[in-house]
Amino acid sequence: MNYNKKTVRDIDVSGKKVLLRCDFNVPQDKETGEITSDKRIVAALPTIRYLLENNAAVIACSHLGKPKNGPDPKLSLAPVAKRLSELLGKPVSFAADVVGEDARAKAATLQPGQILLLENTRFEKGETKNDPALAKALAGMAEVYVSDAFGAVHRAHASTAGVADYLPAVSGFLIQKELEFLGGAIANPKRPLVAILGGSKVSSKIGVINNLLEIADTIIIGGGMAYTFSAAQGGRVGNSLLESDWMDYSRDMIEKAKAKGVKLLLPVDTVCADAFAADANSQVVKAGEIPDGWEGLDIGPETVKLYCDAVADAGTVIWNGPMGVFEFPAFAKGTEAVAEALSKTSAITIIGGGDSAAAVEQLGYADKMTHISTGGGASLEFLEGKELPGVACLLDK
Ligand code: 3PG
Repeated sequence: MNYNKKTVRDIDVSGKKVLLRCDFNVPQDKETGEITSDKRIVAALPTIRYLLENNAAVIACSHLGKPKNGPDPKLSLAPVAKRLSELLGKPVSFAADVVGEDARAKAATLQPGQILLLENTRFEKGETKNDPALAKALAGMAEVYVSDAFGAVHRAHASTAGVADYLPAVSGFLIQKELEFLGGAIANPKRPLVAILGGSKVSSKIGVINNLLEIADTIIIGGGMAYTFSAAQGGRVGNSLLESDWMDYSRDMIEKAKAKGVKLLLPVDTVCADAFAADANSQVVKAGEIPDGWEGLDIGPETVKLYCDAVADAGTVIWNGPMGVFEFPAFAKGTEAVAEALSKTSAITIIGGGDSAAAVEQLGYADKMTHISTGGGASLEFLEGKELPGVACLLDK
């Protein structure tokens, strides 16, 4: 896939109506609807400010959540308009629909330097079906399409991809940055390239492991998925997470890594617990020797040392997925040690979105990383080497 895409700087936006796709899919309090993290809104500000300062009339749009049957007041973007207005320090007008009368009327009278936010794009059934009629209606309100919704580029939806059939399409600064770091790490990494893969399931990381086996010099496995690798080699894993259907695959991967000369590091010891609970009793045992009734919840101290040594002299480190149940402080040590090691290495450090980003932020290492992706599913599909429809649809440089 070509990552060298035109950006807002490569196109004249002055005096033009610009449809800007953002990822304003923000977490909200279930009871009050209050936005609990505005990171994604903040991440869109550089592009929004650039467009407004360069005299564009900005028609912003986004999805929020997964509404199933049309408009759902709980998933309205109205609170996002309010927060965006506070962050920008200027009014953000809000349309009560996506391509209906209100949106069209407000878009038609929008002046350069002003911004309008449309209602949740998924209130339109055609959005997730990439319906050309919806894409055309969205495009009909603007003259240029800018996408800065990195978190949604793996979706071929009307507002993330379809609309580019009808308008010149370029990226905003957020997508540009994601392509530079994630794309750079995949296409032309500073070596050695070390990939740290964690999280609970092997099955959710198959594509990433397959792709990284072709690219990385070292692959480090942690988190719940390590127990499937351990069981595949005859280890005892007690009550640990185990995907028995994926044991053959795990064995194949160990063989494939050997054949390719890729170092595949697996845990050598485990912190196991007598229950899945923050205050469970725990003990450190050798990998593959977890007693019956116990379950692995973190990597052990020997493994921490092995993994931290592996990142110390890396050129690039990509990290996707925590090493253990970091939500429980007693089982966060492995994840924390890896985060600390990444904060000290001189390597380019790239953190995949979702859980890994949350872990690095929660543990206080966020400002020490080279790049933290804003996309969960999107960064995973990126690392799988898949073509991302929301990137492929943008104009090449
Ligand atoms: C995300 O939160 O990962 C993106 O906004 C994509 O959301 P989706 O999984 O609902 O498409």
